[in-house]
Amino acid sequence: MRRIVQISDTHLSPTKPHFACNWQPLTAWLATQAPDLVVHTGDVTVDGADVAEDMRHCRELLDGVGVPVLSIPGNHDVGEAHHPHQPVNAARLARWREHLGPDFWVHDVEGWRLIGLNSMLFGSDEAEEERQLGWLERQIAEADGRRLGWFLHRPLFVETPGEGDKGYWSVPPTPRAHLLDLVRRHQVAFVASGHLHRAHDIEVDGTRYIWGPSSGFVVGEALQPGMAGTTTLGAVTYSFDGRDYEAAIHEIGGLETLWIDDVIHEVYPPRAA
Ligand SMILES: [Fe+2]
Ligand SMILES: [Fe+2]
Repeated sequence: MRRIVQISDTHLSPTKPHFACNWQPLTAWLATQAPDLVVHTGDVTVDGADVAEDMRHCRELLDGVGVPVLSIPGNHDVGEAHHPHQPVNAARLARWREHLGPDFWVHDVEGWRLIGLNSMLFGSDEAEEERQLGWLERQIAEADGRRLGWFLHRPLFVETPGEGDKGYWSVPPTPRAHLLDLVRRHQVAFVASGHLHRAHDIEVDGTRYIWGPSSGFVVGEALQPGMAGTTTLGAVTYSFDGRDYEAAIHEIGGLETLWIDDVIHEVYPPRAA
């Protein structure tokens, strides 16, 4: 049996320590779980997309966890597709890779092939978008009968697979359609994401969609009106046993419930036009 813990959206920085108080309780809880691997589903940093010191700081924190950590980037780590101020591009990807490792990866455990995807590339038209998709199709083709589980930052969809463009919150419809086609054709068992700072666990067309909660902060109703899931702070445990698996969302009691709404103008000030 193999145990993995998914953590997400820590939003850590040496110069903006607004959510730093939740790192120690998270790592204390991780120690009680004794996982073989930790997967961080992005927004590791407050602003690693522009601040190298955030990347260095988080590398040190992740090294201190004491078990291997595989991370995939969020929008605050590598930027966003076609963003006017902070587009995902070669320089930002290079900084992520220098400090935090590959931005997409495969990790096999017995009976399973786990795939980490850089969801910030979807719809970016960067050369790396095509390279990642080609790589993904090869990893699936060469899975040799292993079941598949995906980890990514931005969820493929928020409400329904066929919904329109949800803007900031999910993968745009065109790249989403291609990815959902792969999910269906290859019976991907679960797609685990971060980004929304909400906990949710639903099954759609035979695939389980797990929203891994942030361990840093939650988001008020004003910014996410009517969104599914719960404003839980915590993490997700996975155990793999042959072709079976279990996944469970955990609220972590030691985490302080911080709301981005209270500090957003300090942590993410609006940019000058
Ligand atoms: Fe986040
Ligand atoms: Fe995010």
